[in-house]
Order: sequence, then C-alpha cells, then structure tokens
Amino acid sequence: MDKVLLEKDGNIAVITINNPKALNALSTEVLQDLEAAVNDVKNDDDIYAVIVTGAGNKSFVAGADIAEMKDKTVEEAAEYGRFGNKVFREIETMNKPVIAAVNGFALGGGNELAMACDIRLAADTAVFGQPEVGLGITPGFGGTQRLARLVPTGIAKEILYTARNIKAPKALEIGLVNALYPAEELLDAAKKMAKGIAKNAPKAVAASKAAINKGLDGTMDEGINVEVEEFSNCFATEDQKYGMDCFLNKVKDKQFKNK
Ligand code: CAA
Repeated sequence: MDKVLLEKDGNIAVITINNPKALNALSTEVLQDLEAAVNDVKNDDDIYAVIVTGAGNKSFVAGADIAEMKDKTVEEAAEYGRFGNKVFREIETMNKPVIAAVNGFALGGGNELAMACDIRLAADTAVFGQPEVGLGITPGFGGTQRLARLVPTGIAKEILYTARNIKAPKALEIGLVNALYPAEELLDAAKKMAKGIAKNAPKAVAASKAAINKGLDGTMDEGINVEVEEFSNCFATEDQKYGMDCFLNKVKDKQFKNK
C-alpha cells in the first residue's frame, strides 16, 4: 500500500494519497490502496475521525489518471467508473466522519473525492474544478451527482459545462468548502477539527452521519423516521448513559468508549 499512506494518531487517522509524479492522480492502483486504507480505518474501533489529504504541497488529487484512461473501451471505462464510485461511496457511507484537507489541485476525481468526504477544509491556494468535458468525457466518480447536491444546481452546471477551474475563495463562497487556511496551517486545522469531533460519542457521531445521509436520499417523512431510529438506538449504548451521567454530575472531562 505505497500509493496511499495511513497514519494513526490517537483516535484519528490521516489517509494521504501518494502518487506525486502524477499530482496524486487516481490510477486503479491508487484507488485499490485507498480502498484498503478506508477498510482499515472503518474496521478500527479506536479510530473516531479520519482525514484525507494529498502528498506534497501542490496537489490534493489532480483527477482520474488520464494516461491510464485514454485507451479504455466502453466496458473498461464502466468498470473504472464503477470501482472509483464504489471506493468513494465507501468513504461517504463509512461509520465515521471524514474530513478532506484539500492542499492544492482538486480537479475531476480530486474534487469528487473531496465531495465524498463529510467536510472540506482547504488551503487558500487550492484550486477546484471538473475539467472532464474538456477531455471529451463526463465526471466519472460521482461529480454530476454530488456537486449538484452540494452547491446550487446552476452553479454546478456552470462548473461542469465550462470546465473552468475555480479558486479557493470562490469555492468557499459557493459552499463547496467549509473554511480556508494558509497552506502550512491546513493539516493542523483538520487535525484540530478531527480531535474535536473525536471527543464526542463516536457512535452518536456515526449515527448523525447516517441519519443526514440517508435522510438526504428520501422525503422529509422518511428522514424523520431514520432519525427516530438512529436517535433511539443511541439509548442502547454505554456512551449515552455515560454522557448523560457526566452532564448530570457536572463532569467536564469526558472519555467516551465507543461502546
Ligand atoms: N492524470 C495523469 N497524469 C496527470 C494528471 C492526471 N489527472 N494530472 C497531472 N498529471 C501529470 C502530468 O501529466 C505531468 O506528468 P509528466 O511530468 O510526466 O509530464 C505531471 O502530472 C505534472 O503535471 P503538469 O506538468 O501538467 O503540472 P502543471 O503544474 O503544469 O499543471 C494541472 C497542473 C493544472 C493540475 C495539470 O496537471 C492538469 O490539468 N491535470 C489534469 C487535470 C484534469 O483534467 N483532471 C480530470 C481528469 S478526468 C477525471 O477525473 C474523470 C473522472 O471524474 C473519473
């Protein structure tokens, strides 16, 4: 797994896309290593929050690997698209929160990877875009779906049809990212946020993620039913009893157990 690095620090994990020769482009090999890292953190009960970033200081991920894609047949392209989408959906539906620390170019599959994460923090020098139509293709790892859900539809269509990149301040303005930081402060800011999330009950955070995601796929009534289920299931956890005991006994320094 050398195309993706995985570091664990207490209750947080940092996944780094590491294909610097191609500005961290997502070859099949990179996607396979990313899937392995995602499965590792997903199954590690001591990891409560995850950060995804890119190696180096120039690029988060510059997209799918154009050299690998160029000669694909329709069937091979479908297989590549399905695999990229499978890995990104695993991130989106993972039982823990994922923060994208976008440290540079987030183009095509790079923007799509960031959008599969729960929260996007970016360097103030980052560049976002979906350049695919300029290559003769559509986005292939969820961009047509997630961008149109994250930002106003007309803005998503403008970004996709013009294939023009947008700079970090514009990405902040349209709500594609939550916050910008000087490049050298980005990873620390992401870690600070991840550690802040990790102080809360992990199962309650996971349940909140599931409720938001499942709710967005359905009607309000269906979403409310999902929330009732996720909310009530929390009452079967040790952390719910502990968290409420801490409040009632004025204990400030809580240590949830993910149980
Ligand atoms: N795939 C393969 N290789 C890539 C790549 C990509 N997406 N992006 C960059 N590289 C490679 C370049 O070919 C170059 O390799 P060589 O050194 O061997 O020539 C190396 O990375 C450095 O890139 P540049 O010399 O181009 O660097 P630059 O600073 O001049 O430009 C850039 C940076 C603007 C990001 C430019 O590299 C670029 O436009 N990259 C492609 C971005 C793109 O179109 N992404 C969408 C891909 S399609 C997609 O993602 C489909 C999907 O949804 C699944």
